[in-house]
Amino acid sequence: MEKTPENTENLLKKHGQNQLLAFWQQLNSDQKQALLTQIQQLDLPKIDDWVANYVKKYTPPAIPTDFDPAQSYTHSPVNSDQKNKYDEAVQLGKKLISDGKIAAFVVAGGQGTRLGFDGPKGNYPISPIKNKTLFQIFAETIKAVSEKYQATCPWYIMTSPLNYTQTVEIFRSNNYYGLDEKNVIIFQQGTLPNFGFDGKILMAEKDKIASSPDGHGGSLKALYETGAVEDMKKRGTEFISYWQIDNSLVNLFDPLFIGLHALDESEMSSKALIKFEPKEKVGNFCLVDGKVTVIEYSDLPDELAEKRNTDGSLVFNLGSIGIHIISRTFVEKINKKGFALPFHRAAKKIPYIDQQGNVIKPTEPNGVKLETFIFDALPLASNSIILQTKREEFAPTKNATGIDSAETAKQITVARAADWLDSAGVPVPRKPDGSPDCLIEIAPSFAVEKNDIKEKISQIPQIKPNDQIYLD
Ligand code: UD1
Repeated sequence: MEKTPENTENLLKKHGQNQLLAFWQQLNSDQKQALLTQIQQLDLPKIDDWVANYVKKYTPPAIPTDFDPAQSYTHSPVNSDQKNKYDEAVQLGKKLISDGKIAAFVVAGGQGTRLGFDGPKGNYPISPIKNKTLFQIFAETIKAVSEKYQATCPWYIMTSPLNYTQTVEIFRSNNYYGLDEKNVIIFQQGTLPNFGFDGKILMAEKDKIASSPDGHGGSLKALYETGAVEDMKKRGTEFISYWQIDNSLVNLFDPLFIGLHALDESEMSSKALIKFEPKEKVGNFCLVDGKVTVIEYSDLPDELAEKRNTDGSLVFNLGSIGIHIISRTFVEKINKKGFALPFHRAAKKIPYIDQQGNVIKPTEPNGVKLETFIFDALPLASNSIILQTKREEFAPTKNATGIDSAETAKQITVARAADWLDSAGVPVPRKPDGSPDCLIEIAPSFAVEKNDIKEKISQIPQIKPNDQIYLD
């Protein structure tokens, strides 16, 4: 009978994790090798620390006692000085796009459990008439922007071990949706082991440690460690346009946002929504020790969430929506220095095998998953700006129905299309409540922003109530 490698066994014992070898004798040599590789990747001294501070006993990080609302740029300029700055920013943003300095970067490693969709969320059909998937919409947008600006816009896609292979397969079988394969870079984020409440790492199979993706905050390490940042450098990318896979309406290449980020020498910038109610479930942009910081909605004390200015607006009114511009040099800098984002702990139902080898699918939370969040990197930036945006840029598909669902995303998509047409002088039939009385879908090849419509008015048919209009 083959023996467990002695030093591995001793090391695991020392850290109280020798249950990982419980089935060693039952494994064939490939499985043994696979398990050893996983064990070697564990940073056991760090894991001791996580177990002590996040798993067995958890004290959530203290909420700062003294903080202010963060400052932001309004969506449109409020005076002539600002107008001049916005004009300059738009010109600069356009130049940076034309010069190929911007890379698109979507994080798509999550599980999308709430949506109940099998497979990568990017493959979810979402467009109101053609049922295009999220991946297709973003790919068509990147293609349209590349053509509009006569530039190469590389697209980096972060997946996780849960969906990497499927994602690559989807792109292959769709011929990269018309993009050049070498400009679509799909890579995987890191994972973290899952723990039982007793601090023991769980086993998913006899030769497999239970683990899960390390959160969208893991993107900052993954960009560096997978060589994506190095690839960006070779291509001349200076700024990374970051978004989350479930938001089909994000303006991926926004000259104003890019230009303000560059002009202000910001290292990591954010778009914000004005919250529609004090407890809206989005993080709050605050200023802590002079640094832009996101405080989760659940952590913002009620009296502060409800606090209002004399004009009735909320004092803490800026909601975080997962849209950022990140300087490539910032990602390099923090990785070279060594950085660690704080962990967020979630008690979850984690399938595992018990010490007898039985597969257990718990019905109650039985352990802990750890994650890091991208916005926790904001305080690391030497400068960080915020630009307010409109609701029409945020329609996350998180649930099957109701709030933040495919249904609401389609409604917001049609409403945005109707507003774009209206503002170009094309009449759109509306219901008594003001919502469009028709379905409209604008392909990215037709317009990626409102101003593109003006040049194409002659191609738009007259729209009657109940019409379905697809513009491409
Ligand atoms: C998140 C934000 C919330 C914001 C909202 C916007 C947190 C805690 N909250 O909510 O402030 O208003 O998005 O939509 O993040 N992902 C990975 N790898 C992971 C985990 C997630 O790539 O390990 C990706 C997902 O694929 C998705 C995105 O990150 O694209 C957001 O994940 P999700 O779990 O949907 O975030 P929320 O908690 O809904």
